[in-house]
Amino acid sequence: MKNYILLIIGFVISTGVYAQGEWIVPADKKGKLSTVTFSSSMEKLGADIFKNNCVSCHGTPGQNNPIPLMPSPGDPAGSKFSDNTDGELYYKIQEGRVTMPSFKSALSATDTWNVIAYIRSFHKGYKQEVAAKVETNIPEGATLAMDLSYDADAKKVFVKVIANNEGEQIPVAGVDVKIVAKRYFGQLPIGEPKATDGNGIANIDWNDELPGDSIGNVALTASFVDTENYGDLTVAKDLKIAVATNKPALNAERAMWNTVKKAPLWILFSYLGGVITVWFFIIYVALSLKKIFALGKDEVSDEEQVIY
Ligand code: HEC
Repeated sequence: MKNYILLIIGFVISTGVYAQGEWIVPADKKGKLSTVTFSSSMEKLGADIFKNNCVSCHGTPGQNNPIPLMPSPGDPAGSKFSDNTDGELYYKIQEGRVTMPSFKSALSATDTWNVIAYIRSFHKGYKQEVAAKVETNIPEGATLAMDLSYDADAKKVFVKVIANNEGEQIPVAGVDVKIVAKRYFGQLPIGEPKATDGNGIANIDWNDELPGDSIGNVALTASFVDTENYGDLTVAKDLKIAVATNKPALNAERAMWNTVKKAPLWILFSYLGGVITVWFFIIYVALSLKKIFALGKDEVSDEEQVIY
């Protein structure tokens, strides 16, 4: 009876964790399309990515040998995958769910499309729909340039985007840009992403209470939000616009995580004391065992003498 109750409890818990049901992708993500037509070179790049990141769970496409997980990872050649729109595949690979890892930080947009191109190469009857080109005033073949500056009165950081077209400089309008500040670990987004105006300028609010380094410098980097369409162009600048902060660097003297050389003497001595004490007891116990063993041997031979 008890076993039955345990079984039922176990079942309820496991279904609670695993019965995720259908994987619903937000409506605005379903329709996402690649801006480039899948090609055999993309499929080849995607095959490598799949081999390195996905085959361990999903198995070889077409061989129906995913590892037994609940829910099943599924064979990428099968209908579990082919029933998805490109946008759904993109979302599921980027976001992950439970045992399906999120590949947001491992795979760039381009790499994600490469692996989708590879997966699609197994889907008979699949016809790719390519995203329409975004309308901007960037002339075909122009190279983009970006600049970053600060206006102390307005407390705003300006990002200017210019298209260089055969010597002509055209301000780029209607393109979203974002700014991040470099921190010890990772990057801190500054304000909200903004679109450039008719002068090619986006202004982003600056919070001048943000801590900087010891002289108030902060390292800012501007980039496009839609890197798929506009590329990975960035501009980085050290600006003296933050609050000077005298936080010890991670490798400064006396920091907890530092090298032995910088540890205070009392830590070294208590550590050494601990090690010596532990070894003392280990050796003491070992010697005592040896003594007991020797005594036992003596006794046996004593008895033997008595008997014979
Ligand atoms: C650790 C194991 C694991 C790895 C590694 C893994 N997956 Fe998955 N994947 C899963 C599991 C489990 C599911 C089912 C998740 C669910 O339905 O909740 C899944 C589901 C998916 C789906 C959704 C399928 C559907 O039901 O619509 C896609 C797409 C997918 N994986 C692609 C990939 C790609 C591409 C890679 C490599 C870049 C990858 N996975 C790596 C375990 C994994």
